[in-house]
Amino acid sequence: MILSIQHACDVLIVGSGAAGLSVALSLADHSQVIVLSKSNIKEGSTRYAQGGIAAVFDEENDSVDSHVQDTLIAGAGLCDEDAVRFTASNAADAMKWLIDFGMPFDRLDDKSDGEYHLTREGGHSHRRILHAADATGEAVQVTLVDAVLQHPNIHIFEDYNAIDLIKSQHNPEHALGAYVYNCQTKRVEVIKSRFVILATGGASKVYQYTSNPDVSSGDGIAMAWRAGCSIANMEFNQFHPTCLFHPDAGTFLISEALRGEGAKLVHADGTPFMHQFDERGDLAPRDIVARAIDFEMKRLGQDCMYLDITHQSNDFIIKHFPNIYRKCRSVGIDITRQPIPVVPAAHYSCGGVVTDKHAKTDLDNVYAVGEVAYTGLHGANRMASNSLLECIVFARAAAQHIQSKLNSADYSEVIPAWDESRVTDSDEEVIIQHNWHELRLSMWDYVGIVRTDKRLQRALRRIELLQQEIHDYYSNFRVSNNLLELRNLVTVAQLIVLCAMRRKESRGLHYNLDYPDMLPEAKPTVLNPNDLNS
Ligand code: FAD
Ligand code: SIN
Repeated sequence: MILSIQHACDVLIVGSGAAGLSVALSLADHSQVIVLSKSNIKEGSTRYAQGGIAAVFDEENDSVDSHVQDTLIAGAGLCDEDAVRFTASNAADAMKWLIDFGMPFDRLDDKSDGEYHLTREGGHSHRRILHAADATGEAVQVTLVDAVLQHPNIHIFEDYNAIDLIKSQHNPEHALGAYVYNCQTKRVEVIKSRFVILATGGASKVYQYTSNPDVSSGDGIAMAWRAGCSIANMEFNQFHPTCLFHPDAGTFLISEALRGEGAKLVHADGTPFMHQFDERGDLAPRDIVARAIDFEMKRLGQDCMYLDITHQSNDFIIKHFPNIYRKCRSVGIDITRQPIPVVPAAHYSCGGVVTDKHAKTDLDNVYAVGEVAYTGLHGANRMASNSLLECIVFARAAAQHIQSKLNSADYSEVIPAWDESRVTDSDEEVIIQHNWHELRLSMWDYVGIVRTDKRLQRALRRIELLQQEIHDYYSNFRVSNNLLELRNLVTVAQLIVLCAMRRKESRGLHYNLDYPDMLPEAKPTVLNPNDLNS
């Protein structure tokens, strides 16, 4: 057996998006921190965020109560009101913390101390979205990366893929660190730590069409599940209504902020249709808009619908949406003159690893922060621009909690080396590629925007077969990046389907034709691996 390389730190953070880097910055003055990134430090959903971050900055016209109410309404009765209130009331402070690191939110005029420009998105009854033009996420990521790179106690490990938490042999609720795959050397290493933070982002890559980058394969959710943590509300995967539909565009989002500035969804002949589906029209919450587009595409047998912002002036469009303007222009669409072809795509995992208000999971020294977590904030449907907010508010809460326990955390148990004695190099990589496509297509076809019991059963049968094959493969061959991601994706797919099967109603993002109505009582779907396996 070859001995694994071992690293040690106080806090291991798996993920370098808004959640992971915010925890790192909040803890690093008092502890040694390692941040893992599966790709380069900048890659993750955070950098692609467009619309912005919700927080009450216009105290004259807006209020924390109103932010709370809008979130509860979007969440279709399923939000945990305490989590919503906690998030909304800490939002302004969290944004000031970010601004102190240099976050360049747009201002009303070009003065550096002028009031912030606030935009609007679906579900929000006021203008309360802070943003940096239409590339807010890029600005957040750059701001945080610049700050962590300057901190001597933060150590960045790029191209490291966390495989599994290492559990204590003596205390089943304690983790000793994680086994991690070094994508450069192709070896497994050990990171020993007093605390672990899962900040791995969402799982939308489980669907064929997604607005997310490649790293969003639900790794943290699958790792936590394997380590015995409860997972909740996985049936609520959000589909963003408007991704650019063009063969040369790749994955590209058309921000909801366009609708906030008056853009309308229209048919190919220019007829608006959202008012037939909801009295809030184009600013209805995302679940309603995505279903309306899906319905119209199927009814009319068309490949896409259109988003029209041509009522705004050229100057306004180019100033507020420079990124979207440029991208569309690059594929031959001039958004100042033409409607934009759009389709829905998987965008955000509302469910995840169950945490409390300190972001702590069922394990006593493992926390989950950001899209990987289920805090209760989003309920059955996340309201636009509440996600980056959740990352930062809960990162600060986790850091505060950990800081109070840092000195008492035990660190002495010896970690077993990674055992490769019974595996060989993979003989048929094609199996991974094939299973990968089959899984994502099955999820798109059977567990998408509109579900039925029959489709869910069909999906589960396929997932169970794939799970068996992937398990055999994992047991016999050395790990690789693709295999690790596929193993996690198939677990996440199973959790989504199991949650969806338990929900005998339609609520928020979960719409099942066999149960079109909403039950009188709203309850989260919580799965625990011990219950399921017993
Ligand atoms: P991410 O930013 O996704 O980061 C995940 C990190 O984990 C990455 O560094 C990745 O490499 C790492 N990682 C994953 N698995 C492993 C592993 N096994 N080992 C090591 N590292 C791992 N939200 C808003 O609030 N406002 C918006 O305007 C907005 N717009 C969006 C637009 C797009 C196109 C997308 C995709 C999302 C948008 N969202 C928006 C959602 C929001 O961006 C995400 O929910 C948020 O950025 C998630 O941050 P995170 O830190 O949890 O995860
Ligand atoms: C968008 O800009 O439409 C995305 C906002 C979000 O996902 O919160």
